[in-house]
Amino acid sequence: MTRFAEPAAGAAPTTAVPTERRAKTRHYVMTPPRHFAVDYAINPWMDTANPVDTTVAMAQWHQLRDIYLQMGHTVDLVEPAPGLPDMVYAANGGLIIDGTAVVARFKYAQRKQESALYADWLRSRGYQPVHTRHVNEGQGDLLPVGGTILAGSGFRTDPRAHGQIAEIFGRPVVSLELVDPRFYHLDTALAVLDDETIAYYPPAFTYASRAHLETLFPQAILVDSADAYVFGLNSVSDGLHVVHPAAAVGFAEQLSDAGFEPIGVDLSELLKGGGSVKCCTLEVYS
Ligand code: ARG
Repeated sequence: MTRFAEPAAGAAPTTAVPTERRAKTRHYVMTPPRHFAVDYAINPWMDTANPVDTTVAMAQWHQLRDIYLQMGHTVDLVEPAPGLPDMVYAANGGLIIDGTAVVARFKYAQRKQESALYADWLRSRGYQPVHTRHVNEGQGDLLPVGGTILAGSGFRTDPRAHGQIAEIFGRPVVSLELVDPRFYHLDTALAVLDDETIAYYPPAFTYASRAHLETLFPQAILVDSADAYVFGLNSVSDGLHVVHPAAAVGFAEQLSDAGFEPIGVDLSELLKGGGSVKCCTLEVYS
């Protein structure tokens, strides 16, 4: 599927360069929120006084999975375990590129047992999960874009893990430091849309990291606070379709203007745990 962005209004047709967007078939891994709850608070979105409806969470999660399947993507499932309510955020399970898999080393005790389960799943699929010496929260903080890996730090993934990630995958890693606790994982403040296009929320980063992003991605989509605060950037793109939290209406418009096809989905119940579309989706890169 291909689509071309409209030239900006008033642009001379001879100078307008259409941006070609192309969907690539993806392989995702998801974990159903069968045991989802907010029993503890390890990020500012989590409020143990705010009840969670697991049935609603399951229904919203199924909608997301169905969207991926309708788009022709593969979705593998990991079995959730009781007592691990955050397992639904499969993106944190690790990072898989070209047959190499790193499994997460979680920061907080409440999530540590998830590592063994994600490692078991990786082994069952023929991977040999590699462990890092320092905290890495998988694709929550490690986002491949083209041949590079963008790596977040500041709240969860230890910056010392970034070097090891570069060694393991043999790819350059760009370290980016987060400063706002509401945007505690890189995937809450930055979305990879295709091999060279990203969107991000500048105030979530240190000045140095913002400068770095401006240099690397001068064409990036910069997202407003209203969209960032409903987790708009916690989105998943196949290169053309961008599945995003439905409330991020401004971001949806920016995506359309840039030639993408936004698809809004309501994951409000899962937002209570501090996650949305991307958090629920681990991509297997090949
Ligand atoms: N409650 C989870 C935590 O704080 C949410 C994780 C969200 N995942 C993500 N990829 N941002 O660890």
